[in-house]
Amino acid sequence: MLLTDKINEAVSFLSQKIPRAPDVAVILGSGLGALARRVEGAAVVDYADIPHWPRSTAPGHAGRLVVGSFAGLPVAMMQGRVHYYEGYSMEEVTFPTRVLAKLGAHSLVVTNAAGGIDTKVPPGTIYAITDHINFMGTNPLIGPNLDEMGPRFPDMTHAYDRDYVEKLAAAAQKQGIPLARGVYMAFSGPSFETPAEIRMARAMGADLAGMSTVPEVIAANHMGLRVCGVSCVANYAAGITD
Ligand code: HPA
Repeated sequence: MLLTDKINEAVSFLSQKIPRAPDVAVILGSGLGALARRVEGAAVVDYADIPHWPRSTAPGHAGRLVVGSFAGLPVAMMQGRVHYYEGYSMEEVTFPTRVLAKLGAHSLVVTNAAGGIDTKVPPGTIYAITDHINFMGTNPLIGPNLDEMGPRFPDMTHAYDRDYVEKLAAAAQKQGIPLARGVYMAFSGPSFETPAEIRMARAMGADLAGMSTVPEVIAANHMGLRVCGVSCVANYAAGITD
């Protein structure tokens, strides 16, 4: 079955289940699933029920799509994502992003827990992702281009929307939450990086190391979505401290 047909099946299934189309899609990373409890008028759909939708096996990822309204905004929140290291293909990893974009989302908020590379930024700090380095060794757009979704060679100059970075900064300041800005480097995992790999990442300009997010951000940019990326430093990356 063609990918576009699979996407269309999932879109028509979801259209029947949800109260209204989302403007914003949100991928809740490890430990952030609880945010979906604050969605009002929520329709909750199990990933297992959505045609072709991959199911998360990682801990802290519930496997539910919560569609409703958050702070007055029509949203679709994914409680849990699938990762490349789980054995899913890049097509499967980016499938939910493509479906939510087709459903009507114009923006994607991606969240994750990551390893911190900057010694001056302690675990617990929130980052606005300003750019990324795709070090996963592959790209979700490899293969025939889906012309109806986007161009063969999508521009990635502003992969993370600059207005959203400023909005995050303003919101964080209002709440008195320190917000760092930095570059997220994606590794395939599932082994954590070695200290040598983290030294390389730092030399290449990365502030954060993680195992997710980049595939979804590439697919979202392909489809013309505006992306807002948020990382929480879960730990110092390997070799940064003892
Ligand atoms: N490396 C990669 N991914 C991660 C880390 C890390 O140190 N911490 C949380 N996710």
